[in-house]
Amino acid sequence: MYKIIKAEELSAGVQSFIVEAPLVARKCQAGQFIILRIDEAGERIPLTIADYDREKGTIQLIFQEVGDTTKQMGKLKTGDYLLDVAGPLGKATEVENFGTVVCIGGGIGVAPVYPIARAYKNAGNRVISIIGARNADLLIMEKEMRSVSDELFITTDDGSAGHKGLVVDPLKDMIAAGEKIARVMAIGPMVMMRGVAEVTRPHGIHTLVSLNPIMVDGTGMCGGCRCSVGGETKFACVDGPEFDGHQVDFNGLMSRARMYHTQERQCKGDGSCHK
Ligand code: FAD
Ligand code: FES
Ligand code: MG
Repeated sequence: MYKIIKAEELSAGVQSFIVEAPLVARKCQAGQFIILRIDEAGERIPLTIADYDREKGTIQLIFQEVGDTTKQMGKLKTGDYLLDVAGPLGKATEVENFGTVVCIGGGIGVAPVYPIARAYKNAGNRVISIIGARNADLLIMEKEMRSVSDELFITTDDGSAGHKGLVVDPLKDMIAAGEKIARVMAIGPMVMMRGVAEVTRPHGIHTLVSLNPIMVDGTGMCGGCRCSVGGETKFACVDGPEFDGHQVDFNGLMSRARMYHTQERQCKGDGSCHK
C-alpha cells in the first residue's frame, strides 16, 4: 500500500498527489513514469513522476481527471492509499549540456516536462520554456517552470494569460529570430507534439516527444503501447516514452488512442465498470 501524503487540487480537474514510494523515489530519473492501481478491481494506469524527494522517499504525481480511474483518484484524500505503484518505468531522459534547449508543455504535459527542464538546467543548459493551456485557469506549474527556465513563454487559446495562440507560436518566433536551438522537448496532446515536430523539421532541430499510448503492463510484454517510429515498431513503455518527433507516425498513434472510446464513455467514474 502506498500512502498519499498530500492530495491537492492544482487547477480545475487537475490533482497533485505526493505519494510515499521510497523504492521508486530512490532510483527514478527525469522522464520516467509509474503504473498504479487504486485497488484490487482497478485498472493499471501510467503517470509520469513529476517530482521526487529521495530523502523523504516520496514522489509527486500530477493527473488530469479525464475518465474512470482518474476521476476515482480525484476523490482520494490526504492519508488515503493506492494499492500498487510500480516503477520507475521507461527510459530516463538523456541529459547533457547541449546548449540551448526549448522545453514545451501543453495542458497536463507541463507536469512531465518540469522534471526534464530542471534536469537540463542543472546540467548547465540554457532552458527556454513554453507552457500552454486552453485558458488561464487550466495553466499549471507556472512558478515551478519559471524557477528552472532562463526564459518562460506562456500561451493560452483564449488569451486569458500570456500570448493568445498556440505553444508553437513563440517557437516559430525564436527560430525566425535566429536562436540557435540544440534540441526541443515537447510533451502534451499528440496534435501539439506533431505540430512542434512539423515546425522544427525543416530546420533540422533535434526534437523529442514523450508518447502516451495506452499502456497495460509497462514491461514490453503486452504490446498495448506499440508505435511506429522511423518505420520500426517500438514499445513506448520500454523503448520510450521519448522518441525522435520527426520519426513518429502520429496518425497511427492517434487512431489507436481512440480505440476504446466507446467503452471509456460507458464508465461512470466510480470503478463499477472494472468489477
Ligand atoms: P479513460 O476514460 O479510461 O481514458 C481516457 C483516455 O486516457 C483514453 O482515451 C486514452 O487516451 C488514455 N488512457 C486510458 N487508459 C490508459 C492507459 N492504461 N494507458 C495510457 N493511456 C490511457 N496523464 C496525466 O494526467 N498525468 C501524467 O503525468 C500522465 N503521464 C503519462 C505517462 C505515460 C507514459 C502515459 C502512457 C500516459 C500518461 N498519462 C498521464 C495519461 C494517463 O495515463 C491517462 O489519462 C489515464 O490512463 C486515463 O485513465 P482514465 O481511466 O481516467 O480514463
Ligand atoms: Fe505493454 Fe508497453 S505497456 S508492451
Ligand atoms: Mg480507464
